[in-house]
Amino acid sequence: MRTTIQQIKDFKLKGEKFAVLTAYDYPTAQIVDRCGIPVILVGDSLGNVVLGYDSTIPVTIDDMIHHTKAVVRGAQKAMVVGDMPFMTYQINIEDTLRNAARFLQEAGAQAVKLEGGVTVADKVKKLVVCGIPVMGHIGLTPQSINQLSGHKVQGRSIEAARRVLADAKALEEAGAFAVVLETIPAELAAFITSRISIPTIGIGAGLGCDGQVQVISDLLGLFTDFVPKHAGQYGTLAQLMSKGIADYANDVINGSFPAAQHSFTMDPAVIDELRH
Ligand code: KIV
Ligand code: NA
Repeated sequence: MRTTIQQIKDFKLKGEKFAVLTAYDYPTAQIVDRCGIPVILVGDSLGNVVLGYDSTIPVTIDDMIHHTKAVVRGAQKAMVVGDMPFMTYQINIEDTLRNAARFLQEAGAQAVKLEGGVTVADKVKKLVVCGIPVMGHIGLTPQSINQLSGHKVQGRSIEAARRVLADAKALEEAGAFAVVLETIPAELAAFITSRISIPTIGIGAGLGCDGQVQVISDLLGLFTDFVPKHAGQYGTLAQLMSKGIADYANDVINGSFPAAQHSFTMDPAVIDELRH
């Protein structure tokens, strides 16, 4: 049985913290799932950490569906949440519903995530009414990076803090089952967490959130272009991979790869006959 949205809500009711991670492909989803992570997010961070774009803005719905399918095939127990990319939920309700439905119907995800609070609450309400669970995402919303003038901490002034709180309340009211709080002061995240009934999932939002989410490529040191301040460092995959690749290339060059155990043989008589 996969994680349900009720189980996510119950984490908050029971005061149990929970870890969420991103994944973008089948083998990574298998590993994350087997570690017992209850929710896997197929984030549009795909654009940065897998596709090599310098923001999430170029990511398309087809990119997201393609990778979400792979993650769903790899995850047996985790809830899979698909991240709706830029401009796939802003235009109108019909477009939003059709795009969100693709994540459930075509890709096999159990929920979607989208960025924004007050301004997307009507869309969230409609999705939820139609049976599509929604995870919100407020604070620093990377799809608005141009409008925000960079990756800046959000919600520090009283006006900005009120806006983030209003966004959280609007999502709760609209029926979102959880909300990501990204890059806001820990004090504000803790306050919001105490003021809404749905779980908060922090990234760069301190210890006071109900759960935490991390981009797996940052967490395990696979993506090295830029490491955000909020990224945990729990692995050095890029170094491990470089060593394996260099060792392989050296063994090819010095003639020690492939060894006998990697090779196939045949009856020498056949080769003899081939010579004549
Ligand atoms: O795209 C993503 O990975 C995200 C998480 C950082 C919350 O939105
Ligand atoms: Na995202």
